[in-house]
Amino acid sequence: MDRFTYWNPTKLIFGKGEVSALSDELKHYGKNVLLVYGGGSIKRNGLYDQVVSILKESGAAITELAGVEPNPRLTTVRKGVELCKENNIDFILAVGGGSVIDATKAIAAGAKYDGDAWDIVTRKHVPMEAIPFGTVLTLAATGSEMNSGSVITNWETNEKYGWGSPAVFPKFSILDPVNTFTVPKNHTIYGMVDMMSHVFEQYFHHTENTPYQDRMCEGLLRTVIETAPKLINDLENYDLRETILFTGTIALNGMLSMGARGDWASHNIEHAVSAVYDIPHAGGLAILFPNWMKHVIQENPGRFKQLAVRVFDVDPAGKTDEEVGLEGIDKLSAFWTSLGAPRRLADYDINDEKIDLIADRAMARGEFGQFKKLNKEDVLAILNASL
Ligand code: NZQ
Ligand code: ZN
Repeated sequence: MDRFTYWNPTKLIFGKGEVSALSDELKHYGKNVLLVYGGGSIKRNGLYDQVVSILKESGAAITELAGVEPNPRLTTVRKGVELCKENNIDFILAVGGGSVIDATKAIAAGAKYDGDAWDIVTRKHVPMEAIPFGTVLTLAATGSEMNSGSVITNWETNEKYGWGSPAVFPKFSILDPVNTFTVPKNHTIYGMVDMMSHVFEQYFHHTENTPYQDRMCEGLLRTVIETAPKLINDLENYDLRETILFTGTIALNGMLSMGARGDWASHNIEHAVSAVYDIPHAGGLAILFPNWMKHVIQENPGRFKQLAVRVFDVDPAGKTDEEVGLEGIDKLSAFWTSLGAPRRLADYDINDEKIDLIADRAMARGEFGQFKKLNKEDVLAILNASL
């Protein structure tokens, strides 16, 4: 294992009806509340009414920021920052998926900074403080509800970058599986692809002696693989939603990367694709990840074999490690496709026209990836294989 420090101060409140816990949580914060949400799903499923009535009962003065986009945009973050400054906001409540929470993190830090919020995303300014915020999660996918990361898109310049700071851990996150019942099938699938991808990002490293970390990753992957086919045909099944909601949080709250540093190259390439084409994050991952795997398998075929055997039940008899690993990658691709995830960039009508721009965007912070350092040629090879 590598040396590590684990610190995660987010209070996780999980279970049916737990939105009522909001009343107690609100007691710890000021009364000027900014309520942040997305394009309207919470109004259609009744969660908005529930939350607003709890906020009012607690005596909050509510300011609203509605319409946070999937792949949340800098323009919306700037609006949120202005609202915070104009209304002396002292607490923010994010109700939504990863996009709403990520935007909230940028708003919370941006409101404590005199410059432009983009400086935070581009890491020109390192935020040391943020307005405290909590979340009510409505979609199992990103893990943003229990981590300190955020991904923001500058649509004008076609840039999408991740940033993070210990200052933007949510103070609390409320997870009720019932609040995810209305997530449509496609976003349910994307969410499961995303959480599996988060595990892969953390699984592929060169650190030795991580037997328990490996088993945690493999256990999470097997759980999603067992649950996903049932869930997509039974979207309001409480137990299945509960399982997926829990795995999504554990997949990216730091636990799986204790003692080993993950790779994160596929995420970097995907962010570049969705910066240029605005496709759903995990739609892009479903296409790119298997091609990243094939591109880097030579770095450590034994690790790919382990994944193939333990998670995808590949029979290793009489095969090289690489052959077993490749079979596992094909099984992963087939699994994601069987759920209904896209397989090629062409599924989003993306051809090679802007592939160079995407590669440049991916390279914006220089070579990247821990398992294998990727340069522009590597990125182009992975993108071309994904067309
Ligand atoms: O906007 P509304 O109307 O709420 O609709 C959303 C949106 O259209 C809908 N939705 C959410 N909950 C729903 C629901 N519809 C019905 N019922 C519900 N209960 O789902 C759509 C997608 O929502 P979004 O928040 O965009 O999805 P997700 O949670 O997958 O977030 C994606 C964003 O997170 C970033 C991605 O890059 C992308 O920008 N990521 C953030 C990470 C982090 N902070 O740690 C890590 C990830 O790897 C990822 O990069
Ligand atoms: Zn992701």
